[in-house]
Amino acid sequence: STATLRIDVFLAPADLQAAIRVDVRRGLTSRPKGLPPKYFYDARGSELFEDITRLPEYYPTRTERAILEAYGDEIARLSGADTLVELGSGSSEKTRLLLDALARAGHLHRYVPVDVSDSALQGAMTSLAGDYPDLELHGVVADFEEHLDRLPTGGRRMVAFLGSTIGNLEPRARHAFLAMIRRGLGPEDTLLLGTDLVKDTARLVAAYDDSAGVTAEFNRNVLRVINRELAADFDPAAFDHVARWNAEEEQMEMWLRARVPMVVDVAALDLEVRFETGEELRTEISAKFRKEPLSEELEAAGFVTQGWWTDPDGDFALTLARP
Ligand code: AVJ
Repeated sequence: STATLRIDVFLAPADLQAAIRVDVRRGLTSRPKGLPPKYFYDARGSELFEDITRLPEYYPTRTERAILEAYGDEIARLSGADTLVELGSGSSEKTRLLLDALARAGHLHRYVPVDVSDSALQGAMTSLAGDYPDLELHGVVADFEEHLDRLPTGGRRMVAFLGSTIGNLEPRARHAFLAMIRRGLGPEDTLLLGTDLVKDTARLVAAYDDSAGVTAEFNRNVLRVINRELAADFDPAAFDHVARWNAEEEQMEMWLRARVPMVVDVAALDLEVRFETGEELRTEISAKFRKEPLSEELEAAGFVTQGWWTDPDGDFALTLARP
């Protein structure tokens, strides 16, 4: 194989440890209480999320894949990219659809997966190296909310941020994030953004409160992560899973509601956290988008929308934007 493999590390385990301490202290001492969704994804949480993507109620993953299957070639041609930079590169299946489309368009040269987990990167890169022998692989271990200024340059890049992960960010953080990506792009580079769209409330709620209870387990898993990482004593079974549509903000929200009064000890933070019966802890927002407002958000961050693709039902969208 002629493949070259390289991994840059901008994020050490100690950085992650420091971040979780700051985030959890802030979140558990706020009103209402909250936790950032990025802590869902330990090994078990990542497995549960994989299970979620296969649930009948959870349409986003399969819908985005269908859009990539239908329009990948058009997207690749329009982008003219020779380098695919993928932020939060977990799902290798969609990566391959994009890589194949870029290869068919005739320019594919390099793949730059960016992820907080170096083990996930290693795995993805090793498997890709076998199947794409001519592809240069350059992994980056980084927090994409922080290290976007350090992504490898050169060539014509398409930065892909798929799966509607951008929906986890509040509007202000979203703007800052898009503007930061924009600052890092050259005039020929593009951004490919996957976004879940506003739709019937019942379908949205079902997607975050499936009948098999997988999402409920995924939601409670964040408490297990805090227990392990910060020597806390949350009883996950004492919290009910709540999925709710916030019509004002046009976002799905997941909460954990205390079933009984509790005092939780977070030993590593020397912190005691009280819950009243019925008190809710917000664990995730998942913003849903509309075409025009999204275009305006991109414009405010310095982008021009070049293409917009949806499935026939208008459930999910891919947007190609350029400086
Ligand atoms: C991976 C953040 C896009 O918001 O739909 C799935 C995570 N949460 N079910 C989403 C999630 C509950 C997912 N994202």
